[in-house]
Amino acid sequence: IPVETFDLVIFGGTGDLARRKILPALFKRFCSGQVPDGSKLIGAARSDLTTQAYRALVAEALLEFVGDIASDAETVRAFCEHVHYVSVDARGETGWSALAAELSPETVRAFYFSVGPGVYSDLARGLERHGLVGPETRIVVEKPFGHDLETAQALNRELAQHFDESQIYRIDHYLGKETVQNLMAVRFGNMLFEPLWNAQYIDHIQITVAETVGVAGRGDYYEKSGAMRDMVQNHLMQLLCLIAMEPPAQFEPDAVRDEKLKVIRALDAVQPHHIVRGQYTAADGAAAYREDVDNPRSKTESFVALKCQVNNWRWAGTPFYLRTGKRLRARDSEITVVFKDTPHSIFGPEAGRHRNELNIQLQPNEGITLNVTIKEPGPGGMRLVDVPLDMSFAEALGPKVQGSSDAYERLIMDVIRGNQTLFMRDDEVEAAWAWTDPIIHGWEARGDVPKPYDAFAHGPDDADLMMRREGREWRGLDK
Ligand code: BG6
Repeated sequence: IPVETFDLVIFGGTGDLARRKILPALFKRFCSGQVPDGSKLIGAARSDLTTQAYRALVAEALLEFVGDIASDAETVRAFCEHVHYVSVDARGETGWSALAAELSPETVRAFYFSVGPGVYSDLARGLERHGLVGPETRIVVEKPFGHDLETAQALNRELAQHFDESQIYRIDHYLGKETVQNLMAVRFGNMLFEPLWNAQYIDHIQITVAETVGVAGRGDYYEKSGAMRDMVQNHLMQLLCLIAMEPPAQFEPDAVRDEKLKVIRALDAVQPHHIVRGQYTAADGAAAYREDVDNPRSKTESFVALKCQVNNWRWAGTPFYLRTGKRLRARDSEITVVFKDTPHSIFGPEAGRHRNELNIQLQPNEGITLNVTIKEPGPGGMRLVDVPLDMSFAEALGPKVQGSSDAYERLIMDVIRGNQTLFMRDDEVEAAWAWTDPIIHGWEARGDVPKPYDAFAHGPDDADLMMRREGREWRGLDK
């Protein structure tokens, strides 16, 4: 889809997120012809830099984070012609008029708040005070969106004083991932799955987002956050919504977000015995969590596994299990839909237990696998075996997969095009906090200490036990 000329201002333009994600994403879209002539990419930060110096910083970041295509000096130079820099003091008066002078009067204008949440209000006020907000203005707000329900509500109220909800783009980069969107394509683009997509046919659903990285370098943020706030409240909750929601009438922002909101509001409160917190300890050369955050008494969790229930007609009786953690055995994000046993086995008990499973691999190696039960080839009677109907996207779609854009590329371009489908609405974020808060408050009230688990292993044993007690087991990670 062609893109009109636009101005994008990155507040926090010299920061880590800008260097790692935002600028590389813009560069790749530039290479695909989606940064039209006349568009400006304006870095804004407190440092006193010239545009020339900022361009050098951008070129360096591209070399570091984009790889091969960024080694073409001519392309980088052409990209940098779009790049400008203005030094702005978010809390003071300096720099705002210089910023205003850089902006074109009639194009789409997006302000990316790539700064700590403590600065969001100052930026929002500054933009309005200096007359930079027009009907074609959008702001992009990164997570964490608040620390709990109260702070999220306060932030929503503050932003609402300066912007209409249709101008606010709350990023959850999981929604921009290719396979996450594929979840909707698979569910709502096929006749095959939707009739079975309910408690009558599905035994349970599990969502795992496992990482091998620890938290070294982000300790200050992570200590106050923990896996529940950092991952479950947003990324896992969004995945759960896409899996559990009713079909929206259209693939259109509010239709999709209305359905996701209904899922979050239907979630039962999680019982304390249905949740396991963990914290990694030193192993295989990796330091313990407590060393990484430099707090020998830390009670922050780097792992959470929980069982929850969506209380509505479609899902009553089908539990959802969510699990996420740092320093686990593998980087592995996947969703498995485990179907029920057939109502009766005509092959007798010796055929064993076989169930269909739909596995959606989000990363790495995006793909979808459906396990189907067939007869084991050869003589020897009716022995059954499960075989995967495997659709690896890389194999099936080849170069298209290689060329597919990453989450930030897609989401930034959606902001420019004015499409909010893959962004969270105010009520969605608040509903997610309303569900998360009591869990965290419960831990605090009980002085709960997370269970230790070895770095690069499978997480605390209790998480496995929680599943085994119910005759189930986690998929992934150990495969
Ligand atoms: C971020 C979290 O939102 O997502 C990080 O703050 C986490 O802690 C990251 O590592 C995971 O994202 P991805 O895209 O690497 O799965």
